[in-house]
Amino acid sequence: MMNFELLSLSWAKAATFKTDAMVVLVADGQKQEPGLLSTMLDQAQKTGDFSSAAGQCMLWWKPPGLSALRLVLVGIGKGRAQDVRQGVAAGLAALKKSKSQSVTLLMQAAQTEHLVLAAQAAADAAYVYTATKPSAKALSFKKIILGVPQASSLKAPFELAKAQIAGVSLAREWGNRPANHATPDHLAQVAKQIAKHSRVSCEVLGLKEVTKLGMGSFAAVAQASAQPLRFIILKYKGAADSQAPTVLVGKGITFDTGGISLKPGPGMDEMKFDMCGAASVLGTFEALAQLQPAINVVGLIAACENMPGGKALKPGDVVTSMSGQTIEILNTDAEGRLVLCDALTYAKRFKPSAVIDIATLTGACVIALGHLRSGLYASDEKLAGALLAAGERTLDLCWRMPLDEEYGEGLKSNFADVANIADRSAGSVTAAKFLQRFASDFPWAHLDIAGTAWKSGAAKGATGRPVPALLSYLVSQQAKVVRPAQRTVTARKRSAKA
Ligand code: BES
Ligand code: MN
Ligand code: ZN
Repeated sequence: MMNFELLSLSWAKAATFKTDAMVVLVADGQKQEPGLLSTMLDQAQKTGDFSSAAGQCMLWWKPPGLSALRLVLVGIGKGRAQDVRQGVAAGLAALKKSKSQSVTLLMQAAQTEHLVLAAQAAADAAYVYTATKPSAKALSFKKIILGVPQASSLKAPFELAKAQIAGVSLAREWGNRPANHATPDHLAQVAKQIAKHSRVSCEVLGLKEVTKLGMGSFAAVAQASAQPLRFIILKYKGAADSQAPTVLVGKGITFDTGGISLKPGPGMDEMKFDMCGAASVLGTFEALAQLQPAINVVGLIAACENMPGGKALKPGDVVTSMSGQTIEILNTDAEGRLVLCDALTYAKRFKPSAVIDIATLTGACVIALGHLRSGLYASDEKLAGALLAAGERTLDLCWRMPLDEEYGEGLKSNFADVANIADRSAGSVTAAKFLQRFASDFPWAHLDIAGTAWKSGAAKGATGRPVPALLSYLVSQQAKVVRPAQRTVTARKRSAKA
């Protein structure tokens, strides 16, 4: 577990600060405090050994006159959020093979607005997956010190950073674990573990309870698996009961074979990541538990495997969802929407102020947006705007997608109220249109994270997205809560009339 520390550190003090590695962020034309560090930087720039272009690095071992054992200059170009993130990642990468335990990130005032991003980038660089690979030795990093001009003014973002980092780490870790080490019941146990924090509680339902609730769509997806399904209900209570909660709904398919509509073999291993929506809900709750903001949040996770077999759902089967709508299953590989629709119906009982579902829902979303932005669908303009803004703040980007009525027309069925797929066109949109039928009673948003929840190739692994955006959105909701003392006279009159 990585430790973080926030410390007031001028450039003069940094020169005599004992640390295994001093990483100095350098922006184009950045004003410098005169002193040894500044002289070294000037000289390195003059000789052309260092430039402040984002991601450029220069490393000294035992830099003369400095107390740090290693010095790394890293360029952050114009100092934009993405430049700071790139610079920190490059700086930590340069130290990967060193034996540095304490690393100090030296930031100037202008860069501290990106404190959360910088800390997250450092944590991401330090993360190593070991759960089923004990031979992958953890990196030497033990402590990251954020050296800033004035620590006292940055306490709030520092606390946010630590909570977000814990949440992202948890989401990455459970996303990465293979399906035989991350079953629906394992996810339920993680939720129960999170519920040991104050203000968090957890309830876990099995097949019996889910059947009693009428979740025939969710249960149908799970019916061929040897792993029992789990419906996980997490509650974070940071405000009065009178305050309507935000509900987060996560797709928790711990493995998606496609079912009888079996997926092709190559790359199928990556369908262990099909629970990354659920992992992002768990991660967000871990962050809330650490941060303890004054809001109410409910987390719902529909967790099961999608398997073929003698008991499996067949194309053409019709199931009855908790909403009462019947669904014709034309493709058993479109299972995410089948588990989510019942969770969305369940969400209604909380009289939520907003419901946000998070799902690795469609390959079509990857074709549309690639791996940079998650697909954002929303039935409510304010919710859409707030989520887009949260994504920009955290660089956990999303992009608004359409929900025109016409997109839903392909979901008509001769044998049920709705079919679970339309034709091949606009596959991410038609999936969202399916979900929308179950989300008419509250402001609703849907994040299709199929392209952003994990990376393929050499860097294969979960990203922890969209925990940063979700957490930032939730924390921003806290600021908007009108406390009784702040209520205006007109607001009081209005509520008196009601
Ligand atoms: N989990 C997949 C979506 C997915 C596929 C995410 C590839 C990331 C990469 C989902 O359950 C699925 O299989 N969707 C189908 C829907 C289709 C049958 C309408 C898809 O996208 O192909
Ligand atoms: Mn599928
Ligand atoms: Zn799936």
